[in-house]
Amino acid sequence: MKLGISLVLGLLLSFSVMAQKAQNLALTPPMGWNSWNTFGTDINEQLVKDIADAFVKLGLKDAGYEYIVLDDGWMAMERDDNYNLVPHPDKFPNGMKEVVDYVHSKGLKFGIYNCAGATTCAGYPGSRGFEYIDAKLYAEWGVDFLKYDWCDTENLNAKGAYQTMRDALQASGRPILFSICEWGDNEPWKWGEEMGHMWRVTGDIINCWDCTVGHGTWASLGVWPIIKLRKDIRKYSGPGHWNDFDMMEVGNGMTPAEDRVHFAMWAMLASPLIMGNDLRSASDETIKTLTNKEVIAINQDALGIQAYCHTNEGDMEVWAKPLANGEWAIAFINMGQKPLQLDFDWAWHPVKDDLSGREMSVNTIEYTIRDAYAHKDRGTTKVNLKGEIGAHDIMLLRLTPKKE
Ligand code: GLA
Repeated sequence: MKLGISLVLGLLLSFSVMAQKAQNLALTPPMGWNSWNTFGTDINEQLVKDIADAFVKLGLKDAGYEYIVLDDGWMAMERDDNYNLVPHPDKFPNGMKEVVDYVHSKGLKFGIYNCAGATTCAGYPGSRGFEYIDAKLYAEWGVDFLKYDWCDTENLNAKGAYQTMRDALQASGRPILFSICEWGDNEPWKWGEEMGHMWRVTGDIINCWDCTVGHGTWASLGVWPIIKLRKDIRKYSGPGHWNDFDMMEVGNGMTPAEDRVHFAMWAMLASPLIMGNDLRSASDETIKTLTNKEVIAINQDALGIQAYCHTNEGDMEVWAKPLANGEWAIAFINMGQKPLQLDFDWAWHPVKDDLSGREMSVNTIEYTIRDAYAHKDRGTTKVNLKGEIGAHDIMLLRLTPKKE
């Protein structure tokens, strides 16, 4: 009997030691689309299929976007007799597998949402107490990505709750990218690497440059409040484990210039690039921004280092991101309302990242300069960089050591 108990304990122990998140996923920041910012709970089978078609037709798939994620509101209010979640019968009349298979048939991946609490943020059944049942169901459907929220979690320990779901996903046998959505309340960057592949760093984003909108117990944050709040947790982010600055609001009402800044900053910050707009009616300008391969390449750089704020002078902010092979991405942002004349002497502004120890050596190395939005070359670091940056706009550059 004693032997039996210790055998079981031993097995349990070795299982818990072995349990880990799915490996080799998200080695660069995940790219995709999520339904929440535009559609809330108003989602259905046709929408997912239309978005998958748009990924292919608009060149988003070619640009690297991969995951189509259904957020809150996909379920019926009750579990079935076996405690399985049930797709909402009006929204998903053919079940979820039909939708997942369609997304897979386009060469894309499918993501779904649930919550660590007893109910989701929109009041649907959460996973608390049903983690293993839910993970098994997702694996059966062929789900590739789980966003896991933090509503209705009174008395739950955050790290423990995410660990339970991580282990349930592992036990399902399917590699599922685990997206922690805990809003930064319990500093998930300090324990998230072990549990998942990305973690939200703030409460929900809203489509504005610099606003904060209160909702009683919580507030939505615009693009710059989010950046400013979490610019200093860069050391926690890297290949396989990313600071998630939230689904993007590109195409959701800011000016085209502000959208360019938003997109470029998410790229610089090595944040997951998850679109949040209606791709079926997106303007050409919005798609041009979202499919800019030079900007995306900065985000997808193999080093995965989050940018730091280099200088902040008057209306101009300069951000720097070390890239692989000695390259750098440098962003000049005009935070003001009037056009800004740039005259930047590289030799006078040493670029050095204390975190990674990387340094741009303009005195010994000449760098060629490429403008990622204008798609043109801008000389080298031997001479001052000159140009005009419009109100709330950006000049995003990639610097490459010149080969002699
Ligand atoms: C929370 C999350 C959002 C979204 C909603 C869904 O607010 O932070 O991203 O998933 O819940 O209800």
